[in-house]
Amino acid sequence: MADSQHQSIPTHPIAPRVKEHQKKPHVGPDILGYRDHHGKTFGEGSNEWWAPIVSPTDRPRDSTGIVRSRLFVLVASRMETSSGSPKVASTPHTTALTDGLIPTPIRFAFLPSYYPSVDQRFSFGDHGVGQCRQSQRPEPLYTIPPPLHSTTFCHEITNFNRPQSSTKPMNRAKAAKSPPLSFSANYGIKKGDTVSVYMPMTWHAVATFLACARIGAIHSVVFAGFSSESLRDRIKDCKSRVLITSDESRRGGKAIATKAIVDAALKECPEVEHVLVQRRTGNTVAWTEGRDKWWHEETLKVPNYCPPEVMSSEDPLFILYTSGSTGKPKGVVHTTAGYLLGAALTVKYVFDVHPEDKFACMADVGWITGHTYIVYGPLLNGVTTTVFESTPVYPTPSRYWQVVEKHQITHFYTAPTAIRLLRRLGEHHTQAHDLSTVRVLGSVGEPINPEAWDWYNEHVGKRQCAIVDTWWQTETGSIMITPFPGAIETKPGSATVPFFGIEPVILDPVSGEVLEGNSVEGILCIRNPWPSIARTVWKDNNRYLDTYMRPYPGFFYTGDGAARDEHGYIWIKGRVDDVINVSGHRLSTAEIESALILHRGVAETAVIGVSDDLTGQTVYAFVTLKPEFTYNPNDEGSLAKELILQVRKVIGPFAAPKKIIIVPDLPKTRSGKIMRRIMRKISAGEGDQLGDLSTLADPSVVDAIKAKVATSP
Ligand code: WTA
Repeated sequence: MADSQHQSIPTHPIAPRVKEHQKKPHVGPDILGYRDHHGKTFGEGSNEWWAPIVSPTDRPRDSTGIVRSRLFVLVASRMETSSGSPKVASTPHTTALTDGLIPTPIRFAFLPSYYPSVDQRFSFGDHGVGQCRQSQRPEPLYTIPPPLHSTTFCHEITNFNRPQSSTKPMNRAKAAKSPPLSFSANYGIKKGDTVSVYMPMTWHAVATFLACARIGAIHSVVFAGFSSESLRDRIKDCKSRVLITSDESRRGGKAIATKAIVDAALKECPEVEHVLVQRRTGNTVAWTEGRDKWWHEETLKVPNYCPPEVMSSEDPLFILYTSGSTGKPKGVVHTTAGYLLGAALTVKYVFDVHPEDKFACMADVGWITGHTYIVYGPLLNGVTTTVFESTPVYPTPSRYWQVVEKHQITHFYTAPTAIRLLRRLGEHHTQAHDLSTVRVLGSVGEPINPEAWDWYNEHVGKRQCAIVDTWWQTETGSIMITPFPGAIETKPGSATVPFFGIEPVILDPVSGEVLEGNSVEGILCIRNPWPSIARTVWKDNNRYLDTYMRPYPGFFYTGDGAARDEHGYIWIKGRVDDVINVSGHRLSTAEIESALILHRGVAETAVIGVSDDLTGQTVYAFVTLKPEFTYNPNDEGSLAKELILQVRKVIGPFAAPKKIIIVPDLPKTRSGKIMRRIMRKISAGEGDQLGDLSTLADPSVVDAIKAKVATSP
């Protein structure tokens, strides 16, 4: 059953600043109403939603009579679970991101899959299913305001012959005469090839995404906090021949030797032929002649117009590696039309964006949140996006608020960890800045505790803003469960209700049965596919099916636990698999264990997540040593440091365990399965509530572990 805290009625009604904007023009069609497929309004127990209903008469038309507002159509067929990837009914061809002129705007209506018949779909409006009318003249539907105009980006990377002149898109006739794109020609990158990206948070990273999308290359962006070994494995897995990086990065006042990490990774990747290096700090870096090229030199060598590649809706747009319950990271694949549709729709509706808005997502471009809410989502809606290079506390804990004030940010999206950290550092930082431009505050990546929510509302939002606690995952591509500003009342700590067309279900963990109705708790799954669902794991579809489709046949398995309270609001309870969420970074226990086991002294290891006030969870590693390994038992601290270094080296600094606990043995069942539950309980200070220990092969290990945890620094 759901906790008693869920029972409170929704307490945060419509935010005043959002209300004011409801009357102003939106980027796309207005939402006129919501109701579920039984005709019920929200709150009566159903979590299925109709698509936004757009009145045909309200839609603006251009001079050719074409309906101007973008209407999205995508009809999802039922999910095929054990036999193949989810199939989403075919959508028309779409052009990869272009220079502000999208000649083939994606015009689909978005219909939930339970639409009973085709006829009824047509009754939806004057746009039929799958209709993708090309406008007679190119309309700048997706203009991207300077300085973040996509044209500017594309010029930087494709403008190899001419000096940079104007950011105005060239007309199509002129474009047709332009020489072909040298970036792809020189480097041999064709549609469907992969390009690995390992870059800091500068606008060049965004340019790289868009440049790849434009020529149909599949980008694989690796978070720049990963170690050279992790980078190497990801490059090898997707077989990139081109890597884009920078000389160094800056983070929190420190310089990071990005290119040196790349060089170390590439020692074992002979297949990488070209490394394009952006100059960030200008410090001297090692150089491999023939392979390494400076971005600023190469960009002077290509024409300033690059025709966009035409992509099929199901062509991959990118690969993003993510951690799961096994050691090897999975290359999650997202597609051109479906993913972009999810990104565009969610920015529009979850954040209620208007053309003049300035969107600021504080994630790193190396994670899915950066992909969808720094790059694609805001730019598809034509609103300005922000690339933030620093940390929330460098050079001062006012940094976020300085940015909000300076750039007049209207949408601010960050993770609960950052909110908790800033809350701890005091209100005077928020008070010193004018935050009155902000209308919507977003939270993502981990459950947000009500105290952090309240602080965000009170001190950042000044009780004037909508707070959207958005639940989603790398695999879902875009937001799945979230309040809608101006439409849904919120409860601090609840992600509230599903996005249009999303059908979350809560299953009994053991029987797998759907728990109907309210006041239930179990495993969160999703029934039926949605546009931005990941289509496969790169070159390993079977792994995709095993991970997401087979655990609970008929449903997409999220790996999260969730409760639905008496008002039908959803509360995310955190991971139920072997994934740990530290500061919103998704870590696999198996991956950390594999890193530790590479140390010559380690015999066995079990990694667990322990809850932490600041970072949500933190990593504890229990380690047993090989009998032949000698070390000074009075100086376990040095060994622990060595082991932490080992994880930093193999995965990256963000995965480093907080505690290494050296124990004589691990608790195991008679069949040899490690019982992590016991270590979790002991670490949480609940060593007296271990429950049934009769299945343990050697119950005496429990006391030894308790003693070690109690004395561990
Ligand atoms: C967690 C990040 C609670 C969840 C977008 C999920 C959340 C994992 C929330 C995905 C939220 C994300 N409330 N938990 N609002 N948002 N999570 O793939 O456990 O890096 O499964 O995607 O983060 O992490 P990922």
